[in-house]
Amino acid sequence: MNIRRATTKDIADISALMTRSAKEFIINEFSAEGRKVFLNLIRKNVIRDYMETGFVYHVAEIDDRIVGVIGMKNNNHLYHLFVDSLHHGRGIAGSLWQYVMKKIVEKQDVKEFIVNSSNYAIGMYEAFGFVQTEPMQEKNGVLYNPMVLRLAEKNT
Ligand SMILES: CC(C)(COP(=O)(O)OP(=O)(O)OC[C@H]1O[C@@H](n2cnc3c(N)ncnc32)[C@H](O)[C@@H]1OP(=O)(O)O)[C@@H](O)C(=O)NCCC(=O)NCCS
Repeated sequence: MNIRRATTKDIADISALMTRSAKEFIINEFSAEGRKVFLNLIRKNVIRDYMETGFVYHVAEIDDRIVGVIGMKNNNHLYHLFVDSLHHGRGIAGSLWQYVMKKIVEKQDVKEFIVNSSNYAIGMYEAFGFVQTEPMQEKNGVLYNPMVLRLAEKNT
């Protein structure tokens, strides 16, 4: 597996992977409005806007095919993390997260990372060290769980 920074050339593949994964694992329990809102937010044009406004995406590839994607907003908000279902449970999400987190903490003094987790992924984020800070929230039919990863203070 290879991890690299995504470019605008990857947008179609990234959006397709997110859409497949969201349909299978995330949006079934949403209202009709929530399903529509969520799918709209992972369309190609929206991912392009995110990239152009500074979100940083990395992809995991196997045999030159994208099998996972992670997107960060402002270097502290884990915004998107999706792995192709054929490759679940093999450490790809963990590798993407470790890769990106290491790059960020090497460059700047980050005290915490936040994520709005799907119900499906809470256990994974807990395995990463995140804790839930509020009960499940609902906005426009989209369900999510605010979580935070507080990093140990350096030099203490
Ligand atoms: C959640 C998801 C990204 C995990 O990808 P993955 O590559 O299978 O995860 P990994 O194999 O790297 O697992 C990392 C850790 O999380 C744990 N984990 C992974 N998925 C989990 C789940 N659904 N529930 C509980 N724990 C989970 C693993 O056991 C592993 O823990 P360990 O390091 O202690 O062994 C993948 O299932 C997915 O794309 N789901 C649908 C999209 C989604 O919900 N994304 C999150 C949006 S906020």
